Amino acid sequence: MALAATAAVAVVAVGMSLAAFLIVRAQLNDQLQLNLTQYARLVAQRNQGAGPGVIAGECRFLAAPGCAQVVPADPRDDPEDPYVLPVTDAARAVAAGRRAPYYTDVTVDGHPARMLTTDFARGRALQVALRSDTVERGVAQVARLLALAAAAGVVTAGFLGSWVARTGLAPVARLTATAEQIAATRDPRHRIGPPPGREGAPKDEIARLAASFDVMLDELEKSVTARRRLVADASHELRTPLTALRTNAELLARADRLSPSQRERASAAVRRLLREVNGLVADLIELARDEEPQPLLEQVAVAPLLDHTVATARDHWPGVPFDVRITGAPVVPGVPARLTRLVGNLLDNAAKFSPPGLPVEVGLGPYELTVRDHGPGIAAEDLPYVFDRFYRATTARALPGSGLGLAMALQIARAHGATLTAERAPGGGALFRLTFPSDEEAVT
Ligand SMILES: Nc1ncnc2c1ncn2[C@@H]1O[C@H](COP(=O)(O)OP(=O)(O)O)[C@@H](O)[C@H]1O
Ligand SMILES: [Mg+2]
Repeated sequence: MALAATAAVAVVAVGMSLAAFLIVRAQLNDQLQLNLTQYARLVAQRNQGAGPGVIAGECRFLAAPGCAQVVPADPRDDPEDPYVLPVTDAARAVAAGRRAPYYTDVTVDGHPARMLTTDFARGRALQVALRSDTVERGVAQVARLLALAAAAGVVTAGFLGSWVARTGLAPVARLTATAEQIAATRDPRHRIGPPPGREGAPKDEIARLAASFDVMLDELEKSVTARRRLVADASHELRTPLTALRTNAELLARADRLSPSQRERASAAVRRLLREVNGLVADLIELARDEEPQPLLEQVAVAPLLDHTVATARDHWPGVPFDVRITGAPVVPGVPARLTRLVGNLLDNAAKFSPPGLPVEVGLGPYELTVRDHGPGIAAEDLPYVFDRFYRATTARALPGSGLGLAMALQIARAHGATLTAERAPGGGALFRLTFPSDEEAVT
């Protein structure tokens, strides 16, 4: 970047100097030629009718600003005194009127000069010359100065280039450093942030890149933290039933000293605890599936799936009447096993919280599945949290469960593009509503 910036500025500096040099040189040359023409006119006026030979100026030593001579078309008319300015065939041609006036560079007496050969009178040409070494010296000086300026420009360009590279690429350097730090420490808490001292400055491309990098890191950190919390919570949740299991297992090891009813109670507890741990592990696996690629979707008819799930729930909860009312036959793209888990979870919760004898009402419309029970319902302050992992209302702590069921249900619903909400049913109890996406909505 430094090199590119330097090269760019240097090319411009050198180019500008070159252009300036060419312009100045052309101007000086034009000026000299203009002087020559004026001088020629003056000499012609003053020496009307002059014959061949030197007519003005101390051409020999070029002491005077210029000199002039008249040249005949025919060399036989040449004067006896030698010419001071070089006479060529071209000059004779101008004298004869066969050629247009022209300029030439000549050397007179060792000095560079510019000469104009122009027509003067019939059969004669006028040659005037002016010293051009001043002009040439001027041009040389300009060239020297401009070369110096160009060199200074190139040096400045070098400094500017490295400055631009350093300030322009500073965020990139910080970005690289942060990425390297994260790679080395595996700690996504690092951030690049706005450049120091420029917090409020408008964002250029690199600052925007840094900002989106930070956003990405936010997401990464969130996901890492969520996973850590899930693992920590899961281990915590597993510890209680495992401890209870161990206690009961130890108890059963001394079964000979227990009464039959004590033994029965202990083994029932072991079965219950094992079921609980099993459920918890199954839920955890299901939750962790979120990260997996989606299995192939198929068109799932919800009504038969619901029938099947309700049948399973009836087996599980023989004391709970399930009232099923089907008014629609939605078909959604999805994974049947996961949808079954979702609905099964809602039915399980409803049955679990239902007072004995009161029905669980299940409704299926064209776009919606509802599960309603007549239990205690969900307190308003718990409503926002029931879908959180491991969240269980204080009132629910006495009942078996892990708090993962609804989190998993919501995750499955989202994966199907459906929404799952919890409400307090009018007249008491909880109402869960699963709304399927309409046909136009995309399914992830
Ligand atoms: N039908 C319901 N009636 C009342 N509360 C419910 C109902 N379903 C869920 N909840 C509340 O939401 C919490 C989370 O439910 P869930 O994730 O299924 O966990 P779990 O069933 O293991 O307790 C429950 O602990 C309970 O407080
Ligand atoms: Mg549950």
